[in-house]
Amino acid sequence: MADFDRVDEVRAASDVILVGARTVRRDNPRLLVRSDERRERRVAAGRPASPCKATVTASGDLDPRAAFFAQGDAPKLVYCPRGEERRLRRRLGELATVVPLGREVRMPDLLEDLGARGSRRLLVEGGGMTLTQFLAADLVDELLLAVAPFFVGDRRAPRFVGDAAFPWSGDRRAALIETRTIGDVVLLRYALSDRFGERPPLSADQGRELAREAR
Ligand SMILES: NC(=O)c1ccc[n+]([C@@H]2O[C@H](COP(=O)([O-])OP(=O)(O)OC[C@H]3O[C@@H](n4cnc5c(N)ncnc54)[C@H](OP(=O)(O)O)[C@@H]3O)[C@@H](O)[C@H]2O)c1
Repeated sequence: MADFDRVDEVRAASDVILVGARTVRRDNPRLLVRSDERRERRVAAGRPASPCKATVTASGDLDPRAAFFAQGDAPKLVYCPRGEERRLRRRLGELATVVPLGREVRMPDLLEDLGARGSRRLLVEGGGMTLTQFLAADLVDELLLAVAPFFVGDRRAPRFVGDAAFPWSGDRRAALIETRTIGDVVLLRYALSDRFGERPPLSADQGRELAREAR
């Protein structure tokens, strides 16, 4: 499907892909770049074939056999509160770098840690709880929203965001940058900060640095 290829392109342009732990548990995503051509281009630039993967958990309930850990050579990062660090290290061993971030994980701290590891471009792929925190904290530069032509008639279905005080309102509207039709899906692209479009992808040296530091 054309929209999967569009997602693949966005993944290939990222340094790190982050999903919440519930998405790891429910969807078991691989979070890899699929296109051989894009993978080769990344490797030629001195970067891992697929971006570094990151997740965040408070419960520590992550299965080491999940595709998140089992697939791909890129480094994997697991952010958690300080109290979960030991248990997660025991459970995950060499599969991932466990990064404790204080009594509770706050997304600005997570971003700062990624920045210190040399990451420039983070793709947050969901789910809603994770997206909500990035959006409510005004940390997002660009929002890509794909609208598919069907309805989900179940109030328990996952939502794009949960309850929060978001920075965007009638007085502060997000800037619509682009609309694109991809098959029967419409892609809406919004600029959510003044930093929109500023982040260049990592240079080869920075990519190697991020890969090394995350190990
Ligand atoms: N349509 C799409 O493009 C798309 C993309 C991704 C996901 N999804 C869907 O979204 C659903 C999951 O979304 P969700 O909102 O329920 O969950 P989520 O955002 O994927 O994950 C939430 C979990 O992440 C951890 N977490 C989040 N913020 C944290 C923090 N500040 N500190 C510590 N841990 C934190 C917690 O893990 P613990 O429970 O381990 O403590 C929390 O339960 C799935 O059904 C999936 O299919 C859809």
